Amino acid sequence: MGIRIAKSRSLCFSLFCFLVLVCCHPCGGKVTKLVQEVCAKTSNYSFCVESLYSDPHAAEADAYWLADIAFRLAYVNATSTQNHILELLKKSTSGDYRGRLQRCGSDYKKAVSAIEMGLNDLNSESFDLLAGYADHAAHAASDCQSAFEGSPNSPLTYMNNAFKGLCEICVVISKLFTDPNSFDFSLL
Ligand SMILES: *[C@@H]1O[C@H](CO)[C@@H](O)[C@H](O)[C@H]1NC(C)=O
Ligand SMILES: *[C@@H]1O[C@H](CO)[C@@H](O)[C@H](O)[C@H]1NC(C)=O
Repeated sequence: MGIRIAKSRSLCFSLFCFLVLVCCHPCGGKVTKLVQEVCAKTSNYSFCVESLYSDPHAAEADAYWLADIAFRLAYVNATSTQNHILELLKKSTSGDYRGRLQRCGSDYKKAVSAIEMGLNDLNSESFDLLAGYADHAAHAASDCQSAFEGSPNSPLTYMNNAFKGLCEICVVISKLFTDPNSFDFSLL
């Protein structure tokens, strides 16, 4: 009898812990209407929410702040991918593989500078070209992806997709400023 009570108590406790975890986890907790609105317009809602909420300020961010978060995430991602490509280049000897990596290296150089220009524009609160910069950066990642077409090993597929996903979030957020009518602010 005593054992049974102890068991059900520990079950209750586990359930309690589970609920606490779910409620305190950023993705289990409340996703702001703004983030919902933005992420619903991207091709992968959960990727979008997870990415934005990887910044602890996402839950309190207004549109401007959220744009800053998204462009910064893309910037960090692009520069670390760029560094990863440099590391791969150091190790690679085969001419064909090297050529493909070099093309990706120059793609990500363009991507980094496009995102940088986006951050500068955000800083000076000029929004007109933001979506274009993010789109340009996404195209650079697509070009890197096609550099490995027909190659059995494409070491950058995961990173290209992740970066394109982040750029897509930037594009959608940029439209909050230039095309606000496409958002349903009655939800906010
Ligand atoms: C969406 O993103 C998640 C990661 O957040 C990934 O596991 C999933 O495969 C993606 N879905 C699609 C359809 O790409
Ligand atoms: C880029 O972002 C994705 C998604 O947030 C993450 O999984 C990946 O590790 C990041 N890559 C780099 C190189 O930072």
